[in-house]
Amino acid sequence: MVSIAVNKSRENVAMLGIGAYRPQRLVSNEEVCEVLDSTPEWIFERTGVRNRRWISGDETLQSIAAAAGERAIVNSGIDRSKIGTLILATSSWLTLTPHGAPKVAHDLGMNGIAAFDLTSGCGGFGYGLGVAADLIRAGSSEYVLLIGAETMTVGLDPTDRGTAMIFGDGAGAVVVGPSADNGISPTVWGSDGKNASAIEQDVDFLEYMQKAQTMQGTDPAVEPIGRMSLRMEGPRVFRWAAVTLPRALSTALEVSGVCKEDIEVFIPHQANARINDLMKKNLGLADDIPVANDIENTGNTSAASIPLAMEEMLVTGKAKGGQTALLLGFGAGLSYAGQVVTLPPAPDEPSF
Ligand code: UT7
Repeated sequence: MVSIAVNKSRENVAMLGIGAYRPQRLVSNEEVCEVLDSTPEWIFERTGVRNRRWISGDETLQSIAAAAGERAIVNSGIDRSKIGTLILATSSWLTLTPHGAPKVAHDLGMNGIAAFDLTSGCGGFGYGLGVAADLIRAGSSEYVLLIGAETMTVGLDPTDRGTAMIFGDGAGAVVVGPSADNGISPTVWGSDGKNASAIEQDVDFLEYMQKAQTMQGTDPAVEPIGRMSLRMEGPRVFRWAAVTLPRALSTALEVSGVCKEDIEVFIPHQANARINDLMKKNLGLADDIPVANDIENTGNTSAASIPLAMEEMLVTGKAKGGQTALLLGFGAGLSYAGQVVTLPPAPDEPSF
């Protein structure tokens, strides 16, 4: 039997640099309520959101992903020629073919590297971080650029009370690579397809095309087909989160070998400020542990929310590079993924 080579593996990996991009246009609750049947007060009280960013002008998912990736590379100090893989965690890239990562790699002057999209809803960054760390541990790449980027507004129905007030656009990225001490724990992840319909597109691509074809040449009075939009049964997701996420957080601590007293920062996905407060309380984290609250002015940016929130905490000094943080992403699938990590250094090139 022939002997097939294996990669040289390594154990210790960490996030070496972070970068983010926040779209120019700030959209207040007041503006959202110009078309949504809601009030600015209700939105803030029930979700924690005051403002969110929406892309405008030349901004696209590709451009904001590349902008965040560029900053992460510069802030990490790693020569981009050493980056072997780009992972684009997103659920809002608009074509299945081609997927986004190769185009973003090209924009970043890294044409030719391994590049793939990872779709796991709002859990996408957590899934991506686990995959990136394991690629490096297995010796498949020395450095990985992980970008979480979303333009949630392209699939947003501005009149839908279940989603319109929450979601925003943005991108965050980290360079992951080898380090002297380990800075990324084993990933705790899972999914619950039984409850997948709690967050879903209202039609799939085939249904949408069939509807569009059926309407071609029909009575002009027939109402034109609307957009394909995201729908969410918020209370159902909330109930799932209340049961599933505390267990995931406890397991993340267990497998990391770190006790809750060692956690210095908590950075959950920015879905709803009330969910985050509940998780902190249930886990018994000390009152003075900072919890990410980027949702207030960035909204829920799905797979981009954790790196955006991490960047905000590092830039404002709420968290410091080298601190031990607990991360947890969760959402569509329904799925979740979390880790205990060492925070990367505060960025020299911040997003605001
Ligand atoms: O990022 C992916 C993961 N996503 C999540 O984790 C989302 C989890 N869920 C949530 O964040 C919340 O469920 C929402 C923010 C989406 C909704 O908040 P809620 O407190 O669960 O609202 P609800 O649907 O239970 O509705 C409570 C009340 C109802 O009125 P009544 O029956 O009590 O009179 C609704 O009709 O609030 C009303 N309502 C609204 N009022 C103003 C529901 N949506 C709205 C709205 N504006 N947009």
